[in-house]
Amino acid sequence: MRELIKQRRSITFFDESKELDESTIRELLTMAATAPSGYNLQPWKVIVVKDKKVKEELMQICYSQEKVLKASANIIILADTEGGISNAPRVFESFVELGYFTKEQAQNAIQSIERSWAEPQNALKKSIRDAALFAMNLMLSARALGLETHPMEGFDEKALRERFNIEQRFIPIMIVAVGYKDPSKELLPRAMRFSPEEFAVFI
Ligand SMILES: Cc1cc2nc3c(=O)[nH]c(=O)nc-3n(C[C@H](O)[C@H](O)[C@H](O)COP(=O)(O)O)c2cc1C
Repeated sequence: MRELIKQRRSITFFDESKELDESTIRELLTMAATAPSGYNLQPWKVIVVKDKKVKEELMQICYSQEKVLKASANIIILADTEGGISNAPRVFESFVELGYFTKEQAQNAIQSIERSWAEPQNALKKSIRDAALFAMNLMLSARALGLETHPMEGFDEKALRERFNIEQRFIPIMIVAVGYKDPSKELLPRAMRFSPEEFAVFI
């Protein structure tokens, strides 16, 4: 695990000759979905873009970032601001089956979730936080499968929403390019990181 974390880099050069089959992408998404989320509500959705023509369009939306075209797939990660409320019944049905909650406790929890997610600021905060954990887990899962990734926030949100019919309830938080590194290219050393002395307070 230590090695895997050290190995993850934002890969700029993808090998465009390599394809990703659908079963590998499904495995990747299944692994990514083991990410933790508040009440296990999993308020995320993804759009997987593999088609070359669509990748070309997506590259334009991503301000001509070439990696979008060269990566085998691009995963558009959406935070679902209504996900807490819409996913709660299935998630709690499973909680009851698995013995986490009694039926009555589950009903009470769903009511409290509905109240909390009805507050737009809460829904935004909760869904973006959980979808970001999903995104990180996706990048580490990709590395575990021998794949490379590059997260991107550089995209025109309005154009992305229009092209992929993304409803208002969803917030596109990032696009993760996935594929294999071009072996002929070298990455620069990893960018600097602040040390715990600089960002941590020990109490
Ligand atoms: C949410 C997010 C958005 C990013 N957006 C872009 C982007 O649009 N274009 C880009 O070249 N890199 C982007 N990056 C990559 C960062 O620049 C990179 O993660 C950082 O420099 C550290 O490099 P490393 O991931 O190789 O350790 C993004 C990273 C994150 C987490």
